[in-house]
Amino acid sequence: MEGSHYGTGYFSEMHLTAWREQKNAKVVSMCDLNYEKLVGRARQFGIPEQHLYTSPEEMLEKEQIDIIDIITGPESHPSLVKLAANAKKHMLCQKPFAVSQEKAEEMVGIAKNAGVRLMVTENWRWYPHLQYLKGIIDSDIVGNINFVKYLNNFYFTPLMNSKDIKQPYFKNMPKLLTYEMGTHWFDVWRFLFGEPNRLYAELKKVSPYIVGDDLGTVLIGHDDFHGIMEMSWASRRNLTTPKQEQLLIETDRNSIIIYENGLTKLIDQRGETILYNQIIKNSKLESFISLQRHFLSCLESGEEFQTSGADNLKTLRLVFSAYESSANKEVIRLPL
Ligand SMILES: NC(=O)c1ccc[n+]([C@@H]2O[C@H](COP(=O)([O-])OP(=O)(O)OC[C@H]3O[C@@H](n4cnc5c(N)ncnc54)[C@H](O)[C@@H]3O)[C@@H](O)[C@H]2O)c1
Repeated sequence: MEGSHYGTGYFSEMHLTAWREQKNAKVVSMCDLNYEKLVGRARQFGIPEQHLYTSPEEMLEKEQIDIIDIITGPESHPSLVKLAANAKKHMLCQKPFAVSQEKAEEMVGIAKNAGVRLMVTENWRWYPHLQYLKGIIDSDIVGNINFVKYLNNFYFTPLMNSKDIKQPYFKNMPKLLTYEMGTHWFDVWRFLFGEPNRLYAELKKVSPYIVGDDLGTVLIGHDDFHGIMEMSWASRRNLTTPKQEQLLIETDRNSIIIYENGLTKLIDQRGETILYNQIIKNSKLESFISLQRHFLSCLESGEEFQTSGADNLKTLRLVFSAYESSANKEVIRLPL
């Protein structure tokens, strides 16, 4: 299959590096409104000048492609999704998928009516440690869940007065952490534990260099258990290892703790660690290679994408509900 990129900014490098690892797909052309970024990325990945475009419409008119990888911000998604759908191209579209629930629903409808496939680039669930954890949860090792704690800490926004930020648009986003990163973490939550039926959130801005939220706690309820999602880009608790992800799952038989570096512990009733695993190859690139592989294999087989546009509506519902809950100090019942 041959594909094109919309967006050749900061994160397109990760996508292109992962596409190189796919045997049955290749990026052959690119489009960005910014010519400098377009040419720079094209040179880096060997895309010839005659396949570069600054007009999204022109690229679709001239290129014979099967798929489009959209790596632009959420404001631009509706127009690009519409263009690609009208041209009958299947799409992979970066998160956050949409600026609102209504825009997300509109795009899902457009793709459906055009008969094209649309998957949201939710790579987090494809991290090897979370795939490994999903295997444990789906096995008969784990008992009934009583409690979950999902922690994501990073020391980032208080340092945003620096000029070298790779994603400077973060500074002006009115919805920041829960929207930009919460989409990943809510998606992971749904992947591992299914659909919650209520949530309560407290979100906060800590850093003086941003306008949106960079700290949040969300209490998430299911029928038989509840959990906490703790998110921060302003936490100095781990200055030696600034980025940290941890998941704790307590069940009636055992507890599981898993860390971002792939270290997994299973603790039995006596409080002893009975399983200990360390995933060596645990990188963002791995998550992208697996995500693209899933996209391609579902296109081939006709199987539903795990994170189709329609599926992502449920993730976005959690994201926007967290903002609503925090603003009104109210529990939100789901689905709305
Ligand atoms: N999944 C992840 O782990 C992950 C990581 C980083 C960024 N992202 C997401 O990827 C998206 C892009 O992030 P980025 O850091 O690369 O942004 P960026 O600003 O560096 O790049 C975006 C590019 O899109 C181009 N663009 C905007 N509108 C366009 C249009 N209509 N047609 C063609 N090009 C257009 C811009 O000129 C820019 O070069 C964001 O939504 C971000 O949240 C996801």
